[in-house]
Amino acid sequence: MKTLEINALSKRYGERLALDSLSFTVPPGEIFGFVGSNGAGKTTTMRIAVGVLRADEGDVRYGGAPVDVHTSARFGYMPEERGLYPKMTVAKHLVYLGRLHGLSTKDARAAMLRWTERLHLSERRDSAIDALSLGNRQRVQLAAALVHDPDVLILDEPFSGLDPLAVQDMAQVIKEKAADGAPVLFSSHQLDLVERLCDRVGVVREGRLAACGSLDVLHSAGPARLFLQVDGARADWPDRCAAVAAYEAHEDGILVELAAGHDENDLLRAAVDQGRVRRMAWQRPTLTEMFRDLIEPAEPAEGAVR
Ligand SMILES: Nc1ncnc2c1ncn2[C@@H]1O[C@H](COP(=O)(O)OP(=O)(O)O)[C@@H](O)[C@H]1O
Ligand SMILES: [Mg+2]
Repeated sequence: MKTLEINALSKRYGERLALDSLSFTVPPGEIFGFVGSNGAGKTTTMRIAVGVLRADEGDVRYGGAPVDVHTSARFGYMPEERGLYPKMTVAKHLVYLGRLHGLSTKDARAAMLRWTERLHLSERRDSAIDALSLGNRQRVQLAAALVHDPDVLILDEPFSGLDPLAVQDMAQVIKEKAADGAPVLFSSHQLDLVERLCDRVGVVREGRLAACGSLDVLHSAGPARLFLQVDGARADWPDRCAAVAAYEAHEDGILVELAAGHDENDLLRAAVDQGRVRRMAWQRPTLTEMFRDLIEPAEPAEGAVR
């Protein structure tokens, strides 16, 4: 298995610059989470990576060589707009896609049986696609991306609209593919899932990579705050505490940002005077907290209700 490289991609749609020299790499066996708000450029990047769209500048490489039709045939792609034939049965659909990817009918049928079993679709093999629940349709989409046993997985919002059980299955399969050595790139705006699943994360905003790195690195780059729980204290005591630059209620206590020149001992001393200190701990921000500003649209979409 080889590294997938996204190399300085730029893409314009008319006046609109959708990608602005975007680069990142996904080594073999890595799960790379691609996050960003609507319109950030995730789908455009993935469509270029699998070769259904051309970049204006930059290229995509796999194992150092530019991706062409032969390499991209070894990619498994789950598009955002679900391209299933609604009247076909699940089994026919998957066999057909396997054949399209060059499998013999026999191998395509074996792969269909294997993946429908693995994704808990065995009972739905003879159902038409349009008779399936949304969750099951997503499972078929994933099976469709996997049926030819691809070397690379590129999944565009694979978790959107899934029920919790389907999320589990999807996450499990992604992990297995990565454990087999495939680079896995998936997009999501659900940061909790990204946090659970990914080795590295890239945050895209307006076609540029706003942040990229391992979760550990991204976490340690975020501002740490102190969680503090003080029983019997007046709720507004931090307002009068010199060690507190800012604070907010959090669970059964408060999260404190220390004022410059103060440390946790200053805060603790002040807290002890206010009541009984039950708990004090450093807390790293979650991805959702760190990237709230990056992920949420800067302005509400036209007509959107806040
Ligand atoms: N076919 C298209 N024609 C014109 N503009 C497009 C087209 N596809 C995407 N865009 C624009 O490109 C930008 C990036 O879109 P997209 O890659 O779909 O973002 P994301 O997947 O992160 O939501 C958006 O501003 C979007 O409106
Ligand atoms: Mg998209």
